[in-house]
This record gives sequence, structure tokens and C-alpha cells, in this order.
Amino acid sequence: MRKVITYGTFDLLHYGHIHLLRRARELGDYLIVGLSTDEFNLIKNKRSYFSFQERKLILESIKYVDHIIEENNWEQKIKDIAEYNIDTLVMGNDWEGQFDTLKQICEVIYLPRTPEISTTQIKKDLMTNFGR
Ligand code: CTP
Repeated sequence: MRKVITYGTFDLLHYGHIHLLRRARELGDYLIVGLSTDEFNLIKNKRSYFSFQERKLILESIKYVDHIIEENNWEQKIKDIAEYNIDTLVMGNDWEGQFDTLKQICEVIYLPRTPEISTTQIKKDLMTNFGR
């Protein structure tokens, strides 16, 4: 069984997230999502609208997601990859090149982001003109 892992905040889940999760799952048979905790989001200078538990509840109802773990820090990937026997780390190409050192222990794939959608954009649009 090929196991894939990806990481992110996945706040205000949108179709860009779904495209990413579907393509990640298609690279293997089992997809683990490392979901950023609220505390880790603060470190990343992100404040999510939904709490960790709320984001987890939504994400675990997505058919491409098999398992969710907490993402608490930048350094845990190497440990997760070993612990969960990961074959492939998938990241959006906003992270291009940044996890190449992990290619020593698993496959690392950067998938192209879906254009013109992000949680930040949704928040901005709703704040300024209530939509697109
Ligand atoms: N993602 C994507 N296409 C998008 C938006 C996100 O493929 N249009 C991917 C990211 O590359 C990442 C995952 O979805 O691998 C989770 O991204 P996250 O940062 O939680 O979502 P964003 O919408 O980018 O949120 P923000 O605007 O807060 O950065």
C-alpha cells in the first residue's frame, strides 16, 4: 500500500483544497493530512476562521482523506514520514523546492496550485464586496 502525506491549514475549505487532496490521494492508496493546529497557525502568522476541531471535522468527511494528524511544528515531517511509513510527501507548489532534503527518505512532489482561489482571497472578497 502506497501512503501519501500532505500538510496544511485547510481553513474555509474550498475547491482548490479539494483538487489538491484528490490529486494527492491519486498518487497512492492512503492519504494522511497533517492539519495545522491553532497554535502552529499562530507561529505561521495565520489565524484561521474555523478552529482545529472544526477544520478536522470538515476534512475527515472528505472521501480522499483517510487519516488526520496534528501538524505542530516545521520539523515533524521527517518523524511522521518514518512513523507512518510514507512513500510520498505532497505539497502545493507554493512550497516548491522547500522540502527537497526529504527526498533522501521519500518521494517529494509539488503539485500546481489551483489558480485564483485561496482562503485569504475568500476572506478579502467577503470583507470588501461580499463575493466575487
Ligand atoms: N492549495 C492549492 N490550490 C489553491 C489553494 C491551496 O493547491 N488554490 C493547496 C496548498 O498548496 C496546500 C493546501 O492546498 O498544499 C492547503 O493550503 P492552505 O494554505 O491551507 O490553503 P490556502 O487557500 O492557500 O490558504 P491561505 O490563503 O490561508 O494561505
